[in-house]
Amino acid sequence: VGHPVVTIDGPTASGKGTVASRVAAVLGFHLLDSGALYRLTALASARQGVAADDAESLAGIAATLDIRFTGNDVVLDGCDVSHEIRAEAIGLRASAIAVHGPVRNALFARQRAFREAPGLVADGRDMGTVIFPDARLKVFLTASVEARAARRLKQLSDKGFSANMDDLLKDLRERDARDTARTVAPLKPAADAFLLDTSEMSIETAVDAVIGWYRRSA
Ligand code: C5P
Repeated sequence: VGHPVVTIDGPTASGKGTVASRVAAVLGFHLLDSGALYRLTALASARQGVAADDAESLAGIAATLDIRFTGNDVVLDGCDVSHEIRAEAIGLRASAIAVHGPVRNALFARQRAFREAPGLVADGRDMGTVIFPDARLKVFLTASVEARAARRLKQLSDKGFSANMDDLLKDLRERDARDTARTVAPLKPAADAFLLDTSEMSIETAVDAVIGWYRRSA
């Protein structure tokens, strides 16, 4: 509590994960990839055969996830699942279970616990609106759906997943619609967020903009 927070929210494949981790490195801050928590809940619940509409069971799983973040590795029940949680099917399931209030409540305190000295950079959908409303700096990244699909295609193929542009465009539109339309913590910029459209912008330029805003926010 009290430690400075920078929130970076935005839709799928807007570049927020990369921008957040670089900003955290520049500032020497901790990093929270909140999407990973929803992905881990999606993976753990799929393994246990829990349906995506069983909000109470899903919330129970979210509350008791045995997870560890070490560097870039994400560990679930003692096993490295860094690769597995990036699959497109897990992202879609994550967005389906993220509509449930009880699931979001179960993850609320877990996310806030990442706020430690000297500070935190948190990326997701509701970091600035719900989880850290008192953040020092709030950024909302956007990019055209085509630019995001192209980035996601590259990310997936770099990680050895197969994907094609048409399916990705369809997935992104489906996830955008669900993340924006849900009644609990919908994807939208905080009233006091800085907007950054990264469609035609390099990661470096986006990182510089965020760092500049942060320095001026002090
Ligand atoms: O960011 P990422 O694609 O890893 O997130 C996966 C899904 O988790 C998103 O589509 C969204 O539905 C959900 N999510 C969320 N709130 C967050 C982060 C992710 O609802 N803060």
